Amino acid sequence: MKKITVGAFLLSMMFGSVHAQSLQSPDGKFEMNFQLKQGVPYYNLKYNGVTVVEDSKLGLRLFKDTSIKFASEIAKPEDAKFDLNNGFTKTEEKRNSKNETWQPILGEKKNYINHYNELALTLNQASTERSIVVKFRLFNDGLGFRYEFPQQKNLNYFVIREEDSEIDFPTDMKAWWIVADYDSQEYQYQETKISEIPARWDKAFDANASQSLVKNAVQSPLMLKKEGKNPLYVNVAEAAVLDYPASHLEVDAQNFKFKTHLTADRQGAKGYIQTPSVTPWRTIIVSPKAEEVMDSKMIFNLNEPTKYTDTSYIHPTKYMGVWWEMIIGKSQWAYSTAENVHLGVTDFTKLTPNGKHAANNTKVKEYIDFAAENGFKGLLIEGWNTGWEDWFGHSKEFVFDFITPYPDFDIKMLNDYAHSKGIKLIMHHETSGSATNYERWSDKAFQLMNKYGYDAVKTGYVGDIIPRGEHHYSQWTINHFYRIAEKANEYKIMVNSHESVRPTGESRTYPNYISAEAARGTEYEAFGGNNADHQTILPFTRWMGGSMDYTPGIFQTKLDYYFPGDKRFVKTTLVKQLALYVTMYMPLQMAADLPENYKKHMDAFQFIKDVAADWDDTKILSAEPGDYVITARKAKGTDNWFVGGITDENKRNYTVDFSFLDKGQKYEATIYEDGKDADYIDNPQSYNIYKKQITDKSKLNFKMARSGGFAISIKPIK
Ligand code: NOJ
Ligand code: CA
Repeated sequence: MKKITVGAFLLSMMFGSVHAQSLQSPDGKFEMNFQLKQGVPYYNLKYNGVTVVEDSKLGLRLFKDTSIKFASEIAKPEDAKFDLNNGFTKTEEKRNSKNETWQPILGEKKNYINHYNELALTLNQASTERSIVVKFRLFNDGLGFRYEFPQQKNLNYFVIREEDSEIDFPTDMKAWWIVADYDSQEYQYQETKISEIPARWDKAFDANASQSLVKNAVQSPLMLKKEGKNPLYVNVAEAAVLDYPASHLEVDAQNFKFKTHLTADRQGAKGYIQTPSVTPWRTIIVSPKAEEVMDSKMIFNLNEPTKYTDTSYIHPTKYMGVWWEMIIGKSQWAYSTAENVHLGVTDFTKLTPNGKHAANNTKVKEYIDFAAENGFKGLLIEGWNTGWEDWFGHSKEFVFDFITPYPDFDIKMLNDYAHSKGIKLIMHHETSGSATNYERWSDKAFQLMNKYGYDAVKTGYVGDIIPRGEHHYSQWTINHFYRIAEKANEYKIMVNSHESVRPTGESRTYPNYISAEAARGTEYEAFGGNNADHQTILPFTRWMGGSMDYTPGIFQTKLDYYFPGDKRFVKTTLVKQLALYVTMYMPLQMAADLPENYKKHMDAFQFIKDVAADWDDTKILSAEPGDYVITARKAKGTDNWFVGGITDENKRNYTVDFSFLDKGQKYEATIYEDGKDADYIDNPQSYNIYKKQITDKSKLNFKMARSGGFAISIKPIK
């Protein structure tokens, strides 16, 4: 039990509800109360009368508030007189409501409903003659709040030392979390109680190409569950992280309390603000049903509608790639044996080829043929451009030019060949973290893409960021990611970024930024593995703010097939790989395995060929973080449905109730299920495929193997 100090109790008696402002959600289930206790702002949150968040402090600490001379100011001890966290009186209170329906350009449903009540409180700090606004939006699925900084005489430019927004839970809860890091979220999820986070923290990470861990802090989105008779699922995240650093959550394990911890820049500063300005939203999604949390669109609703005038070029894309063979080490990105190359100086035609370069004319044509024959529209080619010989680990700023192909990659011929078969090549821009270099070359790179007819780019940020000392999640770098998205929009190009900051609903504003990796994806199956429950947690965490380029579809899960004795394997059954196309929302959807492996299982491959990538409707039929996810989705503009079910390391049965189908309509269901003897370790490729006629009255039971699943494609019978 949490200790309530006598002092805190007396304080709450003295300053309790006297000055509280309360706000209710449109359905009346949530109540948020705001109050100033001796000039310090606090909020709490109740759901159906039960306290979900206890009185929790708000505020920011600043460096000197008017001007700042680096780095001397940063080194100075903290001075409370600059802070925006005390001495406030409330001078204004504004209420507002909205109930709108909007259509995402690409999404999980046709319509997203944005329905909330809003309370904006102007708080004045008399001692400094500064005012800020704390804005709350209460939806039927939870709370969002942010700080707003109106332009005013004494608040024009300032630098944030830390944002101290607290979320204080009354009881211990189960938590699904990854360690906080300014540069990476490529970690395995941990499942512990809040109180157990510090004890587990040191064992919860492995090495990463760029890593700046924050001890005893966890990343957002964080998934929580209050267990017991009346369970409650809580998701803590943020929304609209723009021109501001991404935040982490410091853990107070005794008090079940979290506090914002912003990503610092190289000077230790956490946000350079020019008023008028607003912070990202802090979000708390709450429901007694895990499915409703997963289904919440609150984070997207808290982002601004797009200002793009033309979005017609944005489309869902299913793609294959010259990729997995490099990830597993069968081929290479680099062309030659050289170790030190100088772009614009080195003559690549004179270098000795290493004989393992995958992005060569012959192989790319084979991939184009296979992708075209099977109805794909996109083909990613990695390692097409010069510079891969010394791309990583040297803090090399001019590492790629993004316009010069290797001697064995005929960019014109291959694009012409691809287009003649209805395929667009997908561009790859690995920056090696050198964001300055990418900004220098991006116009030329996008012009080259326009010239040859590429309309999508996969960017990558492996390694430490340049400007040196910046982090993947610091304010400068986040601005870089969205500058690139805006520039890509000028050239009508869609963006999928790897090793970028995780999205927090920005696809509403930047709809051409259609996907991101920004988590531990399939590639990790070749670099140490993903736990069998990994894909059951991601939809509750990383996916809450936007789609992920997870790159599923690996049929040859055991890597000793390529390299005798190799112990690495993808920790799922083949059928679970199919189901991921439904349980994971991906408008940019990869079939990641090699053509030779699909050729051996064309019957199972049919599901990947058929599955949609953009949806009119989504029903989360059943889900529990860390255990299982069962999802049904209706393909955009059709009456076809797809259902996917996945389980963790445990076998599981699930009965699908098809009552979501149209009444009276007959459908043909093609069912892909784990074979009787299927097992992710012993027999991953055992599966059955059969057809069955179903209606909305049907119920079908599926037996999922350990780390297995099932996938169904459903078409109306005309
Ligand atoms: C890491 C990315 O996640 C992966 O997809 C890519 O192939 C490599 N970087 C090389 O850019
Ligand atoms: Ca589990």
